[in-house]
Amino acid sequence: MTQDELKQAVAQAAADYVANNTPAGSIIGVGTGSTANFFIDALAAIKDRYKGAVASSEATRKRLEGHGIAVFDLNDIADIPVYVDGADEIDAGLNMIKGGGGALTREKIVAAVARTFVCICDASKLVDVMGSFPLPVEVIPMARAHVARELAKLGGTPVLREGFVTDNGNVILDVEGLSITDPKGLEARINQITGVVTNGLFAVRPANVLLLGTAEGVRTIT
Ligand code: 5RP
Repeated sequence: MTQDELKQAVAQAAADYVANNTPAGSIIGVGTGSTANFFIDALAAIKDRYKGAVASSEATRKRLEGHGIAVFDLNDIADIPVYVDGADEIDAGLNMIKGGGGALTREKIVAAVARTFVCICDASKLVDVMGSFPLPVEVIPMARAHVARELAKLGGTPVLREGFVTDNGNVILDVEGLSITDPKGLEARINQITGVVTNGLFAVRPANVLLLGTAEGVRTIT
């Protein structure tokens, strides 16, 4: 199976999970990225079951609306039963690195409201120790150099994502060379640096369910 076929399989499994675990008329939280895009396409086939969605990025909002799925402002929604999103890396504790697509802050906000986070990814994303994938950090532009110096003190090498501006008007520093043995501690530590909006570690609020695409089929890990 190709990587895209694995992504498609987990996306369909996530649409089935959502159908079996949320009441009709629910509003679904929807992530960002190529795997989330396959999920949006699978969700479109059963869209009449749902009231609509909350999007974690402008790209996702556009794709949902393109399928005729109503997109709600998070401020108008008190309950999101399930949030479905991909990851760049995930460990056995279902802690994740996210933000490869630069949507980490909005993803983290929607995930914070959701009761259940379903992570969908292919088997290449499951790792023992996170950090091979550079950790994205969203930064207020005027704080870029200060935050980069502070991140270097933590042992990483921050690299500016050239030519990229987030949906919130900020920049991304991708931190290379980290070996993340304490994801929750590092997430909190980086978020304390003045000028950081948030970082791509999802450990304080990890996933609840992982649907993992493997050559043998989709594995469900909780
Ligand atoms: C976007 C993300 C994505 O979930 C992550 O980058 C995975 O993307 P893909 O499904 O394309 O591999 O965090 O900000």
